Amino acid sequence: MTLAQSTTISFRALSFLLVLLILHHPCPYGALASPDGSRPPRSTITVAPAVPSRVPQFVDDALFTSAVLNSTNVFRDQHGAQPVGYNATLARFAAGYLARDSDCRFAHSGGPYGENIALGCADVRACVDLWGDERREYDFRKPGFSEATGHFTQLVWKNTSDVGCGRRLCGQRGWFLVCEYWPRGNIIGQFGEQVGKQVKGSGSKSDAQRARNGPNWRWSVYMILGFLSILLVP
Ligand SMILES: *[C@@H]1O[C@H](CO)[C@@H](O)[C@H](O)[C@H]1NC(C)=O
Ligand SMILES: *[C@@H]1O[C@H](CO)[C@@H](O)[C@H](O)[C@H]1NC(C)=O
Ligand SMILES: *[C@@H]1O[C@H](CO)[C@@H](O)[C@H](O)[C@H]1NC(C)=O
Repeated sequence: MTLAQSTTISFRALSFLLVLLILHHPCPYGALASPDGSRPPRSTITVAPAVPSRVPQFVDDALFTSAVLNSTNVFRDQHGAQPVGYNATLARFAAGYLARDSDCRFAHSGGPYGENIALGCADVRACVDLWGDERREYDFRKPGFSEATGHFTQLVWKNTSDVGCGRRLCGQRGWFLVCEYWPRGNIIGQFGEQVGKQVKGSGSKSDAQRARNGPNWRWSVYMILGFLSILLVP
């Protein structure tokens, strides 16, 4: 092997490694980054955000109740569960808890019902969507409880027949929504029969997202670019 050949080969190997390194480095612009928002913000906000005191679905009792029922029952229908009705006893319980929670601790009440909580959503529907969208993380082949999907499994729990909610404005942190469910869901051992697969509505995004972000897709790009670099570098 001549000196010229060996330098060419190591140069090719180097450029191959370089391409691999660049590709493996986490994308700095967030396109492939996880959506946890852990990167520091690029600008500083100096004006305090307004308190969202006028959201109709939170302010108006009738709109509040109908938004809870509609959003909840849309998800329940999509997962083969009967619609829930609004129960004043449950609503009173939630409101009583929020009245005692004067410093907005954003914690569970520890009451006798199933309970979902959310803070800072744009409106009631956005809160319920947040809970329902946890279905993307739920593994229907391994039914059971997890922190990441517990709101969703309570929301569509088949044996739950009643819902009742309360809300409280927590200053600039926004609205604190508390919903009670009865009979309560998330009972260990019953997830398989009580949490139905999605049978209606637009599909959850999980499968498509996994396909796009999965290791196979990335690995193919590494391989193609790696081979290209070997071919193209003189
Ligand atoms: C009920 O909820 C669904 C899904 O969130 C929404 O598309 C629909 O507009 C709502 N309907 C009413 C009457 O609010
Ligand atoms: C409402 O929920 C309470 C509390 O669990 C229950 O005892 C009651 O029967 C429910 N009311 C109606 C009208 O279903
Ligand atoms: C469903 O709820 C009823 C009360 O309405 C209760 O008696 C029953 O045990 C519950 N079933 C299951 C499977 O949890």
